[in-house]
Amino acid sequence: MNKAKRAAIIAGNWKMNKTPSETTALINEMKPLVADADCKVVLCVPFVDIAAAVDAAKGSNIEIGAENVHFKESGAYTGEISAKMLVESGVKYVVVGHSERRQYFGETDQTVNLRTLAAVNAGLTAIVCVGETLEQRELGYTETLLKYQTKMALTNITKEQLKNIVIAYEPVWAIGTGVTATAEQADEGNGYVRAAIAEAYGEDVAETVTIQYGGSMNAKNCDELVAKVNVDGGLIGGASLKAEDFSVIVKAASK
Ligand code: PGA
Repeated sequence: MNKAKRAAIIAGNWKMNKTPSETTALINEMKPLVADADCKVVLCVPFVDIAAAVDAAKGSNIEIGAENVHFKESGAYTGEISAKMLVESGVKYVVVGHSERRQYFGETDQTVNLRTLAAVNAGLTAIVCVGETLEQRELGYTETLLKYQTKMALTNITKEQLKNIVIAYEPVWAIGTGVTATAEQADEGNGYVRAAIAEAYGEDVAETVTIQYGGSMNAKNCDELVAKVNVDGGLIGGASLKAEDFSVIVKAASK
């Protein structure tokens, strides 16, 4: 297993936080703190903050992402945003299938797959989220569930398109709860995801895919998590809203 074969990415997921003016202020605060990063730095922001974020990040090493994308190219889908709209707005990444969308907005493995396809077909990099609930873990389904969700999300994705896909392993019980997976649990979960990719595309390909950990990663626990062989950075919620904390995580992934 060779970590050098894949990029570490630290991506913030702001969720439903920050207005456009707050976006400008936070990115301006973050820019100098992450300028020396030796990993990719991405901020996934609410749709209405994209213009401000792209503007504030101009000329820096911060790339901007969205938090969702619709699976159709255009049409009568009131309130939705297409991949083409995101691309033209300067977005490079998009979070797909976050557990909050699965839990509160009826997202299914099938729509996660369709959104992933729409994103990569438009030239975006999709950050696809998978993860088990506490109940599923306690019943012993973690490996089965993670492999199933991963393979479902990647249905009809070619080996070539896989280059524009990042998977984020986010145990649902660790998101926003302050309960982090241990470094061993994170490494194991990411390992199951990598094994699923290996089963579908081969070992060589699986070794090149960036697999992040997400779920209460913060300035205190990041060192241990990102040091694990299968953990290629993180998807950061709460701690990505604080410039100082986020920059500590970026530094940990740059070592
Ligand atoms: P958290 O969120 O870091 O606040 O737990 C992570 C995520 O939902 O991506």
